[in-house]
Amino acid sequence: MSSEVVELFDRVADRYDEVLPFFEAFGRLCVDRLPPPGPGDRLLDVGAGRGAIAVPAHARGFAVTATDASAGMVGRLRQEHPELDARVMDAGRLDFDDDTFAVVTAGFVMHLLDDPRAAVREVKRVLKPGGLFAFTGPGRVPDGFEFADGSDALFAEFAQYLPPRGGMGEPFEELAALAAEGFTDLDETDLRIELAVPDAETFWQWLQTHGTRKFFDDLSAGHRAEFRARLIADLESRERVVLHRYAWLYRGRA
Ligand SMILES: C[S@@+](CC[C@H](N)C(=O)[O-])C[C@H]1O[C@@H](n2cnc3c(N)ncnc32)[C@H](O)[C@@H]1O
Repeated sequence: MSSEVVELFDRVADRYDEVLPFFEAFGRLCVDRLPPPGPGDRLLDVGAGRGAIAVPAHARGFAVTATDASAGMVGRLRQEHPELDARVMDAGRLDFDDDTFAVVTAGFVMHLLDDPRAAVREVKRVLKPGGLFAFTGPGRVPDGFEFADGSDALFAEFAQYLPPRGGMGEPFEELAALAAEGFTDLDETDLRIELAVPDAETFWQWLQTHGTRKFFDDLSAGHRAEFRARLIADLESRERVVLHRYAWLYRGRA
């Protein structure tokens, strides 16, 4: 596991998803798309963070186990949701028997891993035959999607100032990785959210409370200040500040 990634999430755990409920919104959309639980069906949420998927999955009636490599995240999750079975665990080494879960989920986790294929292999092992793996992540801009802010263009422009190996995770082809491990019934669909943001400063603060923080930590102070000033000018030039975002939901059956 990349200790740098886990340290980052330990650092942001206290404010994670508190400035704007971005992950909560996507987590709910992901859980809405799961089939209803059968009697006693167990769901494992890998990289559970503050419970964006685990909490609504529990509310839907799944027996939920939530795991995360960040002790800070697991500590907050246990504090806020004692009803969940939450454990510190690496996605690449799941401490469960074969054929344990009916469903495994992972919200915005797979793209952060150094070895996402090892995690896919582990998920396949702990799923019951026919069990569902559903995970979300970024990906290509879906047809017809338009950002309601200019941050995407700024990220593309400022990426040139990152040190070599700045950023997180390893690129991987999601559905190909599922197919390579024997998953079937593969599909991908895009999810979209729109959140009203009170002001430009809140938008900037939101960017500091999750994985994107790494991008800013890796920029020089001068480039960070320039990014911030240009983002705020862009947002203030718009009639209203809106966080309009997409994510891809990938699914396959073991
Ligand atoms: C962007 S957050 C997503 C959290 C949650 N699933 C959500 O949707 O809000 C990514 C999470 O993955 C966890 N993570 C990073 N690397 C991991 C690893 N190797 N194994 C397990 N969890 C990991 C982080 O600690 C963090 O909580």
